Amino acid sequence: MEIVILPDNQAIGSLGADAVEDLLRRKPDAVIGLATGSSPLAIYDELANRYSNDRLSFAKARGFTLDEYVGLPADHPESYRNVIDKDFVSRVDFAPGAVRGPDGLAQDIQAACAGYEEAIARAGGVDLQILGIGTDGHIGFNEPGSSLASRTRIKTLTRQTRIDNARFFGDVLDAVPTHCLTQGLATIMSARHVLLVATGAGKAEAVHHLVEGAVSAMWPGTILQHHPHVTVLLDGAAAGRLQLADYYRQTYLAKPAWQGI
Ligand code: F6R
Repeated sequence: MEIVILPDNQAIGSLGADAVEDLLRRKPDAVIGLATGSSPLAIYDELANRYSNDRLSFAKARGFTLDEYVGLPADHPESYRNVIDKDFVSRVDFAPGAVRGPDGLAQDIQAACAGYEEAIARAGGVDLQILGIGTDGHIGFNEPGSSLASRTRIKTLTRQTRIDNARFFGDVLDAVPTHCLTQGLATIMSARHVLLVATGAGKAEAVHHLVEGAVSAMWPGTILQHHPHVTVLLDGAAAGRLQLADYYRQTYLAKPAWQGI
């Protein structure tokens, strides 16, 4: 796991966008895993800028989102499908239908989840997965206690996650759905490169467990310690509880530029 502690969100956006740009140069039809939420916004903004400046194109790329609320109407502004369209997909040149998400309105939830796994596999798997992490350590919506071997399925959101996300629902806790469909931890682990972003002191405890804690279903993101290629982009506040923060800073400063992330 490579830990990169950066001065601010802008630096995170720039380095994260570099990873996507490098990938698209090597592989224009790359498959990108897209997280919703606040954490990846700086990366999406920077990618949209680079697209506007003709530096990169998503015309041949494909995307898969991580998760979706169950039961939100298709036109609800907070459905993750609509959020990712607004925050990123509509700002670049993905082909129509090139970005898919789990179907939170499916009649047959199990078939929809199995179909989502098949679609990811048919696309050749995810090349680069952009991730955030919840204050309770979830990745995707794999809440504490999730099977470390899980695949896409329905999950119940914890009260903490619903409180955290109430800001998107007019601060009304009851308006936040109770269930979601999410890629499982094993699904996320199948991505070839995982780029996780965390900012702010509220994430410091989750980041502490993610990077330096024991692997445990109680802190689901810790499964990433078993992944061969994870890059964690942090600001100073999110890195605030890391025991080896100075070592991570020195290591990154001394890293040869050709290595990339
Ligand atoms: C979103 C997702 C979640 C978020 C996490 C952090 O698709 O899967 O795991 O990444 O809840 O959310 P933010 O970035 O809003 O703090």
